[in-house]
Amino acid sequence: MYSPIADKKKNPIILGIESSCDETAAAVIRGREVLSNEIASSADIQALYGGVVPEIASRAHTDAIAKVVEKAVKNAGITYEDIDAVAVTYGAGLLGALLVGVSFAKAFAFALNKPLIAVNHIRGHLSAAYLHEPSLKPPFVTLLASGGHTAVLYTKTEAEFEILGATLDDAVGEAFDKVARVLGLKYPGGPNIEKLAQEGKAVIPMPKMLKGAGGYNFSYSGLKTAVINYCHTKEQKGEAYNKADVACSFQSSALDVLVEKTVMGAKEKNVSCVTAGGGVVANGYLREALKKACDKAGLKLVLPEKRYCTDNAAMIASEGLVQYNLGNFAEMTLNAKASIPLSATLSTPQNTIRK
Ligand code: KG4
Ligand code: ZN
Repeated sequence: MYSPIADKKKNPIILGIESSCDETAAAVIRGREVLSNEIASSADIQALYGGVVPEIASRAHTDAIAKVVEKAVKNAGITYEDIDAVAVTYGAGLLGALLVGVSFAKAFAFALNKPLIAVNHIRGHLSAAYLHEPSLKPPFVTLLASGGHTAVLYTKTEAEFEILGATLDDAVGEAFDKVARVLGLKYPGGPNIEKLAQEGKAVIPMPKMLKGAGGYNFSYSGLKTAVINYCHTKEQKGEAYNKADVACSFQSSALDVLVEKTVMGAKEKNVSCVTAGGGVVANGYLREALKKACDKAGLKLVLPEKRYCTDNAAMIASEGLVQYNLGNFAEMTLNAKASIPLSATLSTPQNTIRK
C-alpha cells in the first residue's frame, strides 16, 4: 500500500482535475510552477439553453476527460510515472459532473499507485493566488467572488481560515448571470456584461449596497431585482432604455462594495497582503478597482491571471499542493459532494484522512 508521507517531496509534480460545472480541466504543476493547463468547455452548448444543463455537462465531461488529462500530461513534458499526486475537485458542484472527475482521478491514482488528494473547489479558487506569486505566504485577506460564493476571508496559515463575511443571498456571479439574461446577453453572463458596460455610463440609480452597516456581509438579491424591475418596467411601457448604461451601473454597484470590504478586512486584520479568486475576479473593472484601492491603502495585491480566476485545474493542483504539504490524502472511498458549506473550507475536507 502506498505511504504518502514516506515519499513527500519539496516540489512535487501534481496533476489537478476539475469537473464541477461545465469545464473539464486538467493541469500539471511542479511546486507552484504551472507546467500545463488544459480546458475543454461545454459553455457553447450550454449557451443554447441559457445556462448549464447538468446532464449535458456530465456527458461532455465523460467525452473529454481522458483526452484533457492526456493533453495536460503531454504538454507538461512529463510521463505518468513522474506524477507525485493526483488532486481532484470532489465538491461543491453538479453531482454528475463531479463524479466524472472523481471516478477518473480515483482510477488513475489507483492504476499508477499514486496518492489521491480531495480538493474543495472553493479552496481551489483561494489557492490560485499561490500560482501567481510562488513566494506568497499567509497571513492575507482574500476576496472570493464566483458564481456560487461571495466572501471575504482571512487566511491565517495555509490550514486556518476565517470567514469575515459572505453573501446573505445571491452570489455576485449569479447576479451577473441573471442580469445578463434580462439584458438579452448570452451565457455566461459575466464577461458579456463587462463587454457591454464598456460602452455605457454608470448613470442609472441603483439600490444602496450593504456597506458599513452590513459589516463584511453582502446582499445581491435587491440589486438584481432592481435591475430586472427597471428593464421590465421600461419594456412594459414601451420605453427605450440604454442597456449599456444598465450594465455599467449594475457592474459598478455590484463590484465597488467587494473592493471596499476586502480592503476593510485587510486593515482590520492588520495584514499587508490581499489576494482574490473566483470567476468574477476575471472582471477588468474589478481588477482595476482592487489595484487602485490596495495601492491607496498601501496593501500588496496578488491577483491571479484571469485564466486562473475562472474555473481551471491549475488552481485545483495548487490547493492539492497545500493539502499535500499538510499531509491530507484521500482514501479510495472518496465520493463526490454536491454541496459543501463555505465553512467547510476551514477544515480538512470530509472523506480524507489526516496523517
Ligand atoms: O469561479 P467560476 O468560474 O465558477 C464558479 O465556481 O462559480 O465563476 C463563474 C462566475 C459566473 O457567474 C460568471 O458570469 C462570472 O463568474 N464571471 C464574470 C466574469 N467572468 C466570469 N463576472 C463578471 N465579469 C467577468 N469578466
Ligand atoms: Zn469556480
